[in-house]
Amino acid sequence: MAARWPEAELPLFADGKRVNDPERALQLVATEARGCTRCDLYKHAIQTVFGEGPANASLMLVGEQPGDQEDLAGRPFVGPAGSVLDQALHTAGIDRSQVYVTNAVKHFKTEPRGKRRIHKKPDTSEIDICRWWLDHELEIVQPAIVVALGATAARALTRRPLTINANRGRLIELPGRRQGVITVHPSYLLRLQDERDKRREFDLLVKDLRFAASAAAEARA
Ligand code: URA
Repeated sequence: MAARWPEAELPLFADGKRVNDPERALQLVATEARGCTRCDLYKHAIQTVFGEGPANASLMLVGEQPGDQEDLAGRPFVGPAGSVLDQALHTAGIDRSQVYVTNAVKHFKTEPRGKRRIHKKPDTSEIDICRWWLDHELEIVQPAIVVALGATAARALTRRPLTINANRGRLIELPGRRQGVITVHPSYLLRLQDERDKRREFDLLVKDLRFAASAAAEARA
C-alpha cells in the first residue's frame, strides 16, 4: 500500500481530515507504515518496526534500523543494542517510557547466512526513502531535542554524512529548525573487545544522553 499523504501536506491528514491529536496521528501513521513498500526492504523483513513512546516526548532517540529481535518483536531497541541503550538511559537518569524511540529505517535489512539473519547496513537511498516516516514522527512529536544514535541516524536527520566524534557534545542544527545531538550507536559498544574501551565509550554515551536530556528540559522550561 502506498502512503497516502503528499509530503507537502505534513502534518497529517487521514481520510481527508486533519488529525490534531498527536497520539491518534502517530497511531494512524504507524498503521500506514505497516504496509510500506516504498523501498524493497519490506520483502525480507517480518514487519515494519515503527517508533514508540509518548507523542509529547521532549526527547526523541533515532537509531539505525531494527535488528533481528526487533523485527521479531515489532518494537525498536529490544535486543542486545537495546539493553546497552537501556543501561545508558538508566545511568543518565532518563526514563525510557518518557522518550520517543525510533529508527531511521523501519525495516530490518538482512542477508540470510545459513539459519542466521545477518544485519546489513541500509544504503543512502533506503535511508532517504524511509525519511518519509521519520519526518512524520518528527512533525507529530515535535521533540525539543533529537538524538542521532550513530552515523545512519545522523545522515537521516542532517541529510548529509557526518563524523560522530567531530560533532558530539554540542547541539547541531537540523533541517526544519530542529536541534539535535549526535552520539554513537549502542551496538558500537557491543563490538568493542577491551573492557576499558567499553567502559570509556559507555561513559561518553551516558554523557551525551545527559546533555541531550538537559537541553530538552531547558528548551521546554
Ligand atoms: N539497532 C537499531 O539501530 N535499532 C534498533 O531498534 C535495534 C538495533
